[in-house]
Amino acid sequence: MGKKVLLIDLDPQSNLSIHLGINVHGKESSIYQIISGKKKPRDVLKKTAIKGLDLIPSDIDLASAEIELVNMVGRETIIKFYLEKLLSKYDYVLIDCPPSLGLLTLNALTVVREIFIPLQTEFFALQGVSKLLQTFEVIKKRLNNTLSITGIIPCMYDSRTKLGHAVLDKIKEYFDDKVFGTIIRKNVKLSESPSHGIPIALYAPESNGARDYEALSKEIIAQEEKMFDTTVEKISQVKEPVLQ
Ligand SMILES: Nc1ncnc2c1ncn2[C@@H]1O[C@H](COP(=O)(O)OP(=O)(O)OP(=O)(O)O)[C@@H](O)[C@H]1O
Ligand SMILES: [Mg+2]
Repeated sequence: MGKKVLLIDLDPQSNLSIHLGINVHGKESSIYQIISGKKKPRDVLKKTAIKGLDLIPSDIDLASAEIELVNMVGRETIIKFYLEKLLSKYDYVLIDCPPSLGLLTLNALTVVREIFIPLQTEFFALQGVSKLLQTFEVIKKRLNNTLSITGIIPCMYDSRTKLGHAVLDKIKEYFDDKVFGTIIRKNVKLSESPSHGIPIALYAPESNGARDYEALSKEIIAQEEKMFDTTVEKISQVKEPVLQ
């Protein structure tokens, strides 16, 4: 859509990096070298098969960062410290977090403005969500007061099952207007594309999976523009003090 986007893979499992064709077992640089101060972000940054889409990859070494971060001064703000300058060069920066609430995730939550939570429309979907919401409140209060949850993304939806409908209803009941209108359906092309090392938009552009994620991107961009308009409106309503 013509936007400049940076993806940061912060999960030691490196699924995002592998999905984009990076050899995570080679001697390539990763976010780990940035966190440990050994490399500059621009030396780790990689271009991808999509123009305007860049990646800072992860590798398994990142798993030890969780432990090493414990003893660092300002341990929750290391990523902010090393990456803030680079982030301002992009329209969107997306950080893929590990599925745990450790120091890496805390670092991500300290530097971002918004949180997107993909939730599978499966029985265990809401398991763990209340813990995440508690953590969110604490981080907002102590480390990042501009943080907000701007979207729940229902994923892996199977409209043929009663369970799918029931869980989706529960998610909407719990999160209300925070749930995106776009629902990502179960789609076999989405599960195939990682093994080809390319994003769904290139692997199967006509598939339901590509269509759903395109619709989601449009919804996110529209939401952003609406938020921007509201901010501009608020600013224009501020009365300037009259100088006597
Ligand atoms: N809508 C979908 N339809 C079918 N398969 C999907 C869909 N979304 C994801 N998958 C497949 O499910 C697997 C896990 O997806 P993904 O990596 O997005 O999960 P995750 O929640 O990030 O996992 P983790 O919590 O381990 O990081 C992948 O193999 C992916 O290809
Ligand atoms: Mg993941």
